[in-house]
Amino acid sequence: MELIYLSRKDVEGLSIGMHEALTVVDQGFRLKGLGQTEMPPKPGIHPRNNAFIHAMPAYVKGVEAAGLKWVSGYPTNIEKGLPYITGLLVLNDPETGIPMAVMDSSWITAMRTGASVGISAKYLAKQASCVAAILGCGVQARTSLRALVEILPDLSQVRCYDLYPEASRRFIDEMSLAFPKLHLTACSSPAEMIRGADVVVTAIPILAEPKPPLDAGMLKEGGLAVALDYDSAWTGSAMEECDKFVSDDIGQLLSTQKEGVFFSGIPGEIYADLGELAAGLKPGRQNETEKIFSMNMGIAIDDMVTARLVYERALAREAGTRLPL
Ligand SMILES: NC(=O)c1ccc[n+]([C@@H]2O[C@H](COP(=O)([O-])OP(=O)(O)OC[C@H]3O[C@@H](n4cnc5c(N)ncnc54)[C@H](O)[C@@H]3O)[C@@H](O)[C@H]2O)c1
Repeated sequence: MELIYLSRKDVEGLSIGMHEALTVVDQGFRLKGLGQTEMPPKPGIHPRNNAFIHAMPAYVKGVEAAGLKWVSGYPTNIEKGLPYITGLLVLNDPETGIPMAVMDSSWITAMRTGASVGISAKYLAKQASCVAAILGCGVQARTSLRALVEILPDLSQVRCYDLYPEASRRFIDEMSLAFPKLHLTACSSPAEMIRGADVVVTAIPILAEPKPPLDAGMLKEGGLAVALDYDSAWTGSAMEECDKFVSDDIGQLLSTQKEGVFFSGIPGEIYADLGELAAGLKPGRQNETEKIFSMNMGIAIDDMVTARLVYERALAREAGTRLPL
């Protein structure tokens, strides 16, 4: 028996675009909404302060994607010149359980995370959204913007803020090159960044004791907030004032809350998860004035559907290294 090993370079070399990632992630959410998926809440270990290593298994019927991502997030890696998020993903044959592939999961994580932002925007942003704000100009910010460009045809302005001005500078240089029509501005504070934004994406380090810079009254009427960083960026009252509070997985949100470290300030009423919206079981945005909050923690279903796409493309291109099991 053999499996395929795909390094980060192998995965990136397949040149899968954001459009394709959005398609499979949307389908994954739809199947989740229709009850065609199995995904227990992710368990984790925490070898260092504010660090995590999570196990993320899922099975998606129909797409026939089954497997596990083993992913770590270390906020102090930035000081060592190392990536915050790293990991491996094992894809299994759902018929026999036999591992078919082991692949680096950095690209998959970034692409499916960005795609989840795009899916939140698809169902929850105003159609005519033209200004985006991005807090934390790192890896997830880049793929989030790529997805927003795909989903929001009128997007023309991006206002960003990073604790390190050179990180915003690099982000703007890179994104201006990719999207020359976008007007990107580095702001001097989160408060300045959020002014006038229709969609706000936050992607700063997840901290056990955060000092969230975004408070009630800052998200404009009709705005959409998408948090990728748990409750690090927004205060409880900012979440509470929203007309709808949505998550990518309510079960995972509540089980994480129960552990007692995160999400103590989220509203008591959770309107829907993205699966219900993608499956058409509940309406997303219903008018131009609602303030909506989408708490996207990152779910294994998104990883598995993206990994399946990677696997199939790798087979077609004969990419990667075959290893004996
Ligand atoms: N929800 C998901 O699906 C998902 C997936 C992957 C990563 N994440 C989370 O997203 C966050 C960002 O991950 P990443 O891979 O982009 O990391 P990254 O290190 O590439 O980017 C983080 C950026 O935030 C900046 N930053 C740090 N503290 C800040 C602050 N207080 N204010 C403004 N900027 C600040 C850093 O300078 C850096 O540029 C992390 O919390 C990570 O755990 C979420």
